[in-house]
Amino acid sequence: MQTRIEVGILGATGMVGQHFIKFLQGHPWFDLKWLGASDRSAGKKYRDAMTWHLGVVPDSVADLVVEDCKPGNAPRLLFSAMDASVATEIERAFAAAGHVVVSNSRNHRMEADVPLLVPEINPDHLKLVPRQQRVRGWKGQIVTNPNCSTVVLTMGLGPLKQFGITKVIATTMQAVSGAGYPGVASMDILGNVVPFIGGEEEKMEQETQKILGEFRGDRVEPLAARVSAHCNRVPVVDGHTVTVSVELASKPAEADLRAAFDSFSGVPQQRELPSAPARPVIYMEEANRPQPRKDAERERGMAAFVGRLRACPVLDYKFVALGHNTVRGAAGAAVLNAELILSEGMLD
Ligand SMILES: NC(=O)c1ccc[n+]([C@@H]2O[C@H](COP(=O)([O-])OP(=O)(O)OC[C@H]3O[C@@H](n4cnc5c(N)ncnc54)[C@H](OP(=O)(O)O)[C@@H]3O)[C@@H](O)[C@H]2O)c1
Repeated sequence: MQTRIEVGILGATGMVGQHFIKFLQGHPWFDLKWLGASDRSAGKKYRDAMTWHLGVVPDSVADLVVEDCKPGNAPRLLFSAMDASVATEIERAFAAAGHVVVSNSRNHRMEADVPLLVPEINPDHLKLVPRQQRVRGWKGQIVTNPNCSTVVLTMGLGPLKQFGITKVIATTMQAVSGAGYPGVASMDILGNVVPFIGGEEEKMEQETQKILGEFRGDRVEPLAARVSAHCNRVPVVDGHTVTVSVELASKPAEADLRAAFDSFSGVPQQRELPSAPARPVIYMEEANRPQPRKDAERERGMAAFVGRLRACPVLDYKFVALGHNTVRGAAGAAVLNAELILSEGMLD
């Protein structure tokens, strides 16, 4: 691209907003120029409006004045890291006003006309956007990325879709950074496991069916697989681990699954989108990998790491998958979605 396009962040002062700022530093296509938050922060310089949790506040944003999250002078392309309690109305207002809202919030993910994207798996779900514009009368659009544990599961399952996925049992070990800041109390999580994350299991089950579903006509037909998720918070800082058992209709050999993981690639790789990992799924041979501390940060946090593929005595096969929850599970996922949208010419 000759000229970088200006972008902004709704909810820029929060934990995910900060991850967006960090991830967008030096981006070759996107120039971060606008930061929005609540009226508690609006009017203040960014450095004074929040407590930064990711090292040093980048100079490029420290003195930007935070704006109200109201359509007006914001750039056309906006990333959303809004608090879920307010995201529905605010994201809709921006979409109606002509903005392309690339959202990390859960609010619109399961709406029938809103793409829920993992660009390597379902880039064609972007074809839902004209329906948003036709039915809702929006000049803009809302596009979403999955929940941080769903993205890890779907990147592990994506290469296996060709074999006919019929049943999935997934158990997560989710990092504390996925709960935002301050997140889970230290007394609850140090040396402990919390076997409940509100709403998470339902999100993983439903979002997985939508992402792996087929675009037909003007809708997505969810994958007809039964998906069961168990979600646990564990004392890990970054990186969600998911152990997966899967039943496959075509009963492939183990070598077929290995070949599918190794050869998996998608539109982001073909188009060499700036945030696309060279290989979206990396199979690790070592018996004790992937591990969050050793592997989550690799490939800029944008790849999923898979390992321990073996026969499952209950379903057909089982394996482990790992991904960086605040990068591929949040800010990095949304930025890759925006790169896909731009590469489709949908910002022209
Ligand atoms: N934390 C994660 O790892 C994670 C992962 C995946 C998805 N998510 C989703 O991402 C979203 C943000 O999460 P978070 O952890 O970053 O939350 P957070 O730290 O509480 O930040 C929320 C942001 O929303 C803004 N906000 C709140 N009320 C507002 C209003 N009335 N008008 C405009 N802005 C308002 C806040 O601004 P002020 O500072 O001015 O209040 C802040 O910038 C949530 O929807 C969450 O479910 C989070």
